[in-house]
Amino acid sequence: MAYLPRTRVSTKSFISLFITTLLTSTLSLPEELFSLEIGTKIRSDKQSLMSVASDFGNLTKSTPAAVFYPSSSHDIAGLIHFSYTHSTPFFISPRGHGHSINGQASCSDGVVIHMESLGQGRADRINVSVANRYMDIGGEQLWIDVLSAAHAHGLGANSWTDYLHLTVGGTLSVGGISGQTFQHGPQISNVLELDVITGTGQQVTCSKTHNQDLFNAVLGGLGQFGIITRARIPLSPTPEKVKWIRLIYTNIVAFTRDQECLISVDENERLFGFLKYLEGSLLMDQGLIGSWRSSSFFPKNDMEKMAQLTAKHSLTALYYLEVVVAYDEDIAAEVDQELELLLDDLSFVPGFVFTREVTYVEFLDRVHDGELKLHKTGQWQVPHPWLNLFVPKSRILDFDAGVLKGILGSDKANGPILIYPMNKKKWNSKMSAIIPDEEVFYTIGILRSATNDDLEKMLEQNKKILEFCTMEGIPFKQYMPHYTTKEAWMEHFGPKWDKFLDLKMKYDPKGILSPAQKIYTFLLEDDFII
Ligand SMILES: Cc1cc2nc3c(=O)[nH]c(=O)nc-3n(C[C@H](O)[C@H](O)[C@H](O)COP(=O)(O)OP(=O)(O)OC[C@H]3O[C@@H](n4cnc5c(N)ncnc54)[C@H](O)[C@@H]3O)c2cc1C
Ligand SMILES: *[C@@H]1O[C@H](CO)[C@@H](O)[C@H](O)[C@H]1NC(C)=O
Ligand SMILES: *[C@@H]1O[C@H](CO)[C@@H](O)[C@H](O)[C@H]1NC(C)=O
Repeated sequence: MAYLPRTRVSTKSFISLFITTLLTSTLSLPEELFSLEIGTKIRSDKQSLMSVASDFGNLTKSTPAAVFYPSSSHDIAGLIHFSYTHSTPFFISPRGHGHSINGQASCSDGVVIHMESLGQGRADRINVSVANRYMDIGGEQLWIDVLSAAHAHGLGANSWTDYLHLTVGGTLSVGGISGQTFQHGPQISNVLELDVITGTGQQVTCSKTHNQDLFNAVLGGLGQFGIITRARIPLSPTPEKVKWIRLIYTNIVAFTRDQECLISVDENERLFGFLKYLEGSLLMDQGLIGSWRSSSFFPKNDMEKMAQLTAKHSLTALYYLEVVVAYDEDIAAEVDQELELLLDDLSFVPGFVFTREVTYVEFLDRVHDGELKLHKTGQWQVPHPWLNLFVPKSRILDFDAGVLKGILGSDKANGPILIYPMNKKKWNSKMSAIIPDEEVFYTIGILRSATNDDLEKMLEQNKKILEFCTMEGIPFKQYMPHYTTKEAWMEHFGPKWDKFLDLKMKYDPKGILSPAQKIYTFLLEDDFII
C-alpha cells in the first residue's frame, strides 16, 4: 500500500515546545492562531485543563495544551483547518461528555474540543420533524435531551444506551448498545444522515447514499475520521407505559437458551411488537445489593429470597433475564395474555418473576437515579476499570465457566455485570464498528467500581480475562477497544485494517483527530512522543 504518514513534530521541536510551555501558558500552539477569531475561544488556564484531564474511568491523566470552546461547527472547521494547513499541525480531540474509560477523548499536548459548548444557550440544536419522523441533533447533545424532545411528540429513537447522559457524537463513535440492539441494531444502525468535519477541516454531509464511505467510516469510527456535528435519526411512536420484568435463573444453559430464543422471535410474531428491550445480568451474591443498577428494583425481601436460592444451590451468582414490554391501557389485556404464554415457555426458577410497571421514560432514564445517589456518597468519582467484550454465542458457556465462574468467581461484583445477546444481521458490516463473525453474539459488560485498594486486583483480573479468551481461542472483540500497539489494533480490525488505513489517509491524512485512541499515532512514533 502506498502509505507514508507525514511526520509532524520532530523530537527537536517537541523539546523546544516543551521549553516554551514553561514560559507561556499557550504551550505548543502557533501564535498566529491567537490573532484569529477562533483564538479567542481557546483557553489554557489551569481550571480548563483540569476539567478535561481525566474521564469516567478515573484511570488516566493527561495534559492537553488547551481547551477549545466552539460556538459553532464553523469554529471547529476553522480550528482543524488551521492545524491541517500549518507547518507543525497539532492534535485535536473532541470530548463529548468524557465518559470514556481509558482517556480516549483526551489529547496530550494538543487541543481538546469541549463539544458541549456548541449547544450552550442554543435552542436550535435539536429539531424534531414530526411529519418526517426524524430528528436532527447536534453531536454534542445528550441522549437524555433527545429523549425529552422526542417524547414531547410521543416519539422516540429506536435504539438507546442504558445510560442517557452520553453525547450523541460520543456513542455514535463507538456503536451505542443496549436492550434494543437485538431488535433494531446499535445506535449506529439507526442514523439517516450526518454532518461531519473531517481531519482537513472540511464540512461534509453524508448518508447511506451520499459520501457513503465517510458515513460508514465515522459510525463506530472511534473519532478517527471526523467530528460529528449533526446526526439525523429516525423516530418511532413510543409507549407511555411499560412492564419491566426480571426473571431469575440458576443455570447458564437455561438462561442463555431463553435469551437466544427471545431475540430470535420472528418479527411477525405478536409479542415481538410489544418487546421493547432485552438484557441480562449476573446477580452476584450480595454484590448488586446497594449497587446503582438493582437496588431500586428488587424489594429487600426478595433479595433475601434470592440469597437463600444461591445458598441452596451453592452458587456464587444468579442470572437475571430482563425484558420490557409496551403496556399502554388499550393493549394491556392482550399483553398480559401473551406474556403468560411466553413465561410458560421459559425456564427461570419457578416463582422468581419480578415485575414493575413504570412509564417508558422512567425506564429509559433508569440509571440516572443511581448516579445521583452515588454522587452524594462520593462513589461516582472512583476508578472504573470497565471491560466490555463481544463473545460469540458458540463460546458463551466456555466464557461463563472460565471468566464469570472462574476468574471473577466469588468476588463481590461491586457493579453490574451484563450479559445479553444480539443479532449480527442488525449491524452493518460496512461501518467501522467491529463485532465477532457469528450470527448471534453476546455483549459482556464488566462494569465495576474500584477503590484505591482493589483497583490493581481488578485491572489484573481484566488482563487475565483477555488472556483466558486468547488462550482458549475464543474469537472475542472488545467493545470500546483499548489497545496500545499496532499489532493489537491490526488483530482487532482483522480484514478491515487496510480499509481503515485507506479511509484514515483520505479523511484525516495528517492524523490530527482523537490521537488518544492510539490507533494511528504509532505510525508517527519515530518522531512524536505520545
Ligand atoms: C455510566 C456509563 C454508562 C454507559 N452505558 C453505555 C451503554 O449502555 N451503551 C453503550 O454503548 N455505551 C455505554 N457507555 C459508553 C459510552 O457510550 C462511551 O464511553 C461513549 O464514548 C461516551 O460518550 P461521551 O459523549 O462521553 O464520549 P467521550 O468519552 O467524550 O468520547 C469518546 C470518543 O469519541 C470521540 N468523540 C466524542 N465526541 C465526538 C464527536 N462529536 N464526533 C466524533 N468523535 C467524537 C472522542 O474523541 C473519543 O475518542 C457508558 C458509559 C458510562 C460511563
Ligand atoms: C480520580 O478521582 C479523584 C476524585 O475526584 C481525583 O482526586 C483523582 O485525581 C482522579 N484520578 C485520576 C487518575 O483521574
Ligand atoms: C435546526 O433548525 C434551525 C433552523 O432551520 C437550523 O438553523 C439548525 O441548524 C437546526 N439544527 C440542527 C441540529 O440541525
